[in-house]
Amino acid sequence: MSHVVREPRGRTTQGVGGQRGAGAVQRPLQVREDAERGRPREDGQGAQTGTSHPPRLCAAAGVNTGWVTETTRPTAETTGPTAETPRPVAVVTGASSGIGAATARALAAQGFEVVCVARRVDRIEALAAQIDGRAVRGDVTSATDVASLVEQVGGRCDLLVNNAGVYPSGFLLDIDAAEWDRIMDLNVRVPFLLTQLVAKQIIAAGRGGAVVNISSGAAHRMRRSVVPYCLSKTALDRLTKGYALELAQFGIRVNAVEPGFAAGSTSSPLTDEHVRQTLAGIPLGRASGPEDAAAAVLFLCSPAASYITGTSVAVDGGNSIGSLAVHQAKKTPL
Ligand SMILES: NC(=O)c1ccc[n+]([C@@H]2O[C@H](COP(=O)([O-])OP(=O)(O)OC[C@H]3O[C@@H](n4cnc5c(N)ncnc54)[C@H](OP(=O)(O)O)[C@@H]3O)[C@@H](O)[C@H]2O)c1
Repeated sequence: MSHVVREPRGRTTQGVGGQRGAGAVQRPLQVREDAERGRPREDGQGAQTGTSHPPRLCAAAGVNTGWVTETTRPTAETTGPTAETPRPVAVVTGASSGIGAATARALAAQGFEVVCVARRVDRIEALAAQIDGRAVRGDVTSATDVASLVEQVGGRCDLLVNNAGVYPSGFLLDIDAAEWDRIMDLNVRVPFLLTQLVAKQIIAAGRGGAVVNISSGAAHRMRRSVVPYCLSKTALDRLTKGYALELAQFGIRVNAVEPGFAAGSTSSPLTDEHVRQTLAGIPLGRASGPEDAAAAVLFLCSPAASYITGTSVAVDGGNSIGSLAVHQAKKTPL
């Protein structure tokens, strides 16, 4: 992980929650109590209107008033480049293409400072420049790169989107142990580790946060020739629920999104016949676009989802419901 390519406007070195240190672990419970009573926290985070503090993503944990919006978030024009009012920070892995890039754009449009992480630095640099975010080049399976990423985020992460993943094909009789390890590493071990590291920062800062894992319908339905991928997404689904259970007490919500079928994905080299058959079987009649999954990520970290944790949202046009095929002769025309 080499460097922060772009510095955002209005950046400060202070944690988003503004509080750290001993005793912080006890704070989230207090935070929730205050939020439920509809009154500001003692440090002003999660404050209702009428305070001098900006809205924050503590909404992700259900403790704040709402989004950081275009009208409320600080800009260089309204506050100057040295303002002590940082935007909430979202780290998106695999932001160089597909769902990760679309998610980064959607979060930035909602007022997040997005840290775009991937290996193809030219792509994330270009994206970061467009969305006023940051680009951090790195291989998330590398311990060195992950350590560097966490250091560069510097305790200022409110939302983690574990999106980077691989979808390699290979029959169980053919794949070797190294390929197995590669899939499990990126699709399961990395989300485990990144969530742990980011959650510790959020807890230490004494504020809430959210994690969204990009899973797949493959978590629930086995597919021939991509069994390790299916297993990895099943594990990610269980990891989502496990973290949701253990992090709820700290005001951190953990959910997953299961994107639908997107034939153009770079991680999915599919046969034409498979693409045709799959598209024909989607009830809502179209392939998924990266923006579909991104919209679900936005929802899961919004105030509207403040009571949702440990769940997985299928964004698949109904593809996981069942078969569209007619199994019996119709008695009456539709
Ligand atoms: N598209 C679909 O149909 C679909 C359906 C269900 C679920 N999903 C899931 O959605 C997620 C994104 O899929 P996608 O279709 O958007 O795939 P994609 O276009 O191939 O994007 C994968 C992203 O992961 C990054 N990445 C891969 N290995 C990495 C590593 N070691 N370190 C850092 N970044 C890495 C890639 O960036 P670099 O190569 O630049 O590093 C790229 O940005 C995956 O978890 C996938 O399983 C996709």
